[in-house]
Amino acid sequence: MLDVVRKFPEQVKEALGIEFNFEIEREKIKNVVVAGMGGSAISADILSHFSSIPFHVVRDYKPPSFIDEDTLFIAVSYSGNTEETISCFSLAREKCPHVVITTGGKLGSMAKNVIKIPSGMQPRAAIAYLLFPMAKLLSSLGIMDLDFDEVVYLMESNRDRIEEIAKEVGGGIKGIPVIYGYGVMGSIARRWRQQFNENAKMHAFDFVLPECNHNELEAWEGGGDNITCIFLREKEEMDRIKARFDFMREEYEEKARVIELYAPGKSRFSRAIYHMHVGDMASIYMAERRGIDAEPVNLIMQLKNVLSQHSRSSS
Ligand code: PA5
Repeated sequence: MLDVVRKFPEQVKEALGIEFNFEIEREKIKNVVVAGMGGSAISADILSHFSSIPFHVVRDYKPPSFIDEDTLFIAVSYSGNTEETISCFSLAREKCPHVVITTGGKLGSMAKNVIKIPSGMQPRAAIAYLLFPMAKLLSSLGIMDLDFDEVVYLMESNRDRIEEIAKEVGGGIKGIPVIYGYGVMGSIARRWRQQFNENAKMHAFDFVLPECNHNELEAWEGGGDNITCIFLREKEEMDRIKARFDFMREEYEEKARVIELYAPGKSRFSRAIYHMHVGDMASIYMAERRGIDAEPVNLIMQLKNVLSQHSRSSS
């Protein structure tokens, strides 16, 4: 897993080189809906923050009722066999222009416009292939404006630094990691939580500012035993967000360990990808520390098997 994740900068370059030979009529698109689950859906969560038009991520069996011919519908599933994503796609494909991002599977055979990505990885370790082709497609349609060169440069030039920080964070967590972020860093906090869940097989929680200041904050009145807080910060953050984080640090530090991380990079997108990659690596170091193999996701696979038996016997 670590070897695969270490190749992230190369994967980003390869992913940006993936060609697609279909056309979407940009003038018609008024909103974007992406269906996906888990390690596939998070790519859309992250990109949603950069969209110039309404952008909705659906993790469910049904797409939202507003979808129509003005919706660009994207189904993203690494395996192509995730039942919720297939169900959404089946309900949306007649109504909307659509694209599928997958290695193959059922979804791959159901769609006309497919962006085919390399197989043989764990979905969460294939994030470069799940995110960057979607980003490239949406950029080519003028729905977002992202600096990919900067991301590649930042990832390549900070390889050792990222690994060092990840090792330090992975080694420094005591108890349950609780990750906090604002805006796109809120989605990156979610990614960190998912990675601690799936790679290190441990509980973790994520919170988004400023919302968590209206509820989660009060939980600290009851103490913070067994928690390590991770703040995903940016030097360029808004004053109000800085003030919130500073208040939280002062309060939380009295009761728990607080790790504050800042990402370099000129654009928010680059900083988000940087923070994401640190978290991906930190979760693997955490797994190593816990003596756990980061790769298999036995319970997720078991549930998928049970559900597929169930649908076979009821059909
Ligand atoms: O990371 C994982 O393995 C999961 O979160 C999967 O991404 C999730 O179960 C959905 O599967 P897929 O990405 O193949 O659609």
